[in-house]
Amino acid sequence: MSSQQQSHQRVFLITGANKGIGFEVVKKLAANHPTDLILLGSRDQKRGEEALAQLGSPLNVKVLLIDTSSKESIEQAKQEIQKKYGDHLDVLINNAGIAPIKSDLKALKDTFNTNFYGVKQMNDAMSPLLRDNGRIVNVSSEAAALSMKHCSQDLKTKFLNPNLTETELEELFAPLFKAVEEGKDPKTVGFDPIKYSALENFYLLYYCASKLGVTILTRLEARDWNKKYSTKNITISAVCPGFCTTDLNNKAQGTRSPELGADSILYAVYTENLENGQFWRDGSRLPLESEE
Ligand SMILES: NC(=O)c1ccc[n+]([C@@H]2O[C@H](COP(=O)([O-])OP(=O)(O)OC[C@H]3O[C@@H](n4cnc5c(N)ncnc54)[C@H](OP(=O)(O)O)[C@@H]3O)[C@@H](O)[C@H]2O)c1
Repeated sequence: MSSQQQSHQRVFLITGANKGIGFEVVKKLAANHPTDLILLGSRDQKRGEEALAQLGSPLNVKVLLIDTSSKESIEQAKQEIQKKYGDHLDVLINNAGIAPIKSDLKALKDTFNTNFYGVKQMNDAMSPLLRDNGRIVNVSSEAAALSMKHCSQDLKTKFLNPNLTETELEELFAPLFKAVEEGKDPKTVGFDPIKYSALENFYLLYYCASKLGVTILTRLEARDWNKKYSTKNITISAVCPGFCTTDLNNKAQGTRSPELGADSILYAVYTENLENGQFWRDGSRLPLESEE
């Protein structure tokens, strides 16, 4: 790749893109940007290669091995971008996510390691690579707003504090981890287990809390990066793709297609003058607290 090509070619990275909504995002980006580079993130090389083959191995798509729950893996992926792909990013889509099927401490840690810390670690590591007018989309869920609705008033006030720091945000979840570790009801520390019948087959509280974390994190990153990257005009958004039929929910029926979920994400990639740090679905602003 010549340096001239590198400077003109835009680079998109989508994590967890070997299947589901992330795969559909890559498919659309590959078609829309034939001369740009789309990095199809996959935590497993073989699954990534299979996804690439399923796309017909377009020349503008490359597999990037990346496990977002591992700092080492993120660092290796970053080095690969620096060495092989021009040392920059234009769009980062933090799509990788899991839904726990158990309610023990390991399930809580695993969920947060990918859905919350994974996004934070990705952004800490990759944001310096973003060029002018770069975009980050943190794939969240309306589950975040449900979590906000069902947590204590004290927690709500703290989550919505405009001066909250990222460290303080992490600390707001510490009592939940302690309660689960000690076998206490999460309600005693302000996190009320949520009853949301459409998602009944995984442990909702952990998933919803992790997505609340990502949605609030997005607001804080937008606020802080205005200063940190003041000349770069970076836009960061949280997006709900909507309830889509994927492996995450055991291919739940009566939901929307992952293609539509991808469109919801791409809205935050393509829309001009998007308000920074906000929460979107299908191009409409979502409230931070569910009205359901
Ligand atoms: N489906 C919905 O209804 C819905 C609704 C709201 C939000 N979302 C969000 O949308 C995103 C995509 O979900 P989906 O429905 O497309 O789920 P999916 O089909 O299960 O795909 C999830 C993807 O994330 C990858 N992944 C999981 N943990 C990872 C990690 N630590 N590092 C890197 N990749 C990892 C998976 O890789 P493997 O193949 O290796 O497991 C897979 O590629 C998630 O953030 C999810 O929370 C989905």
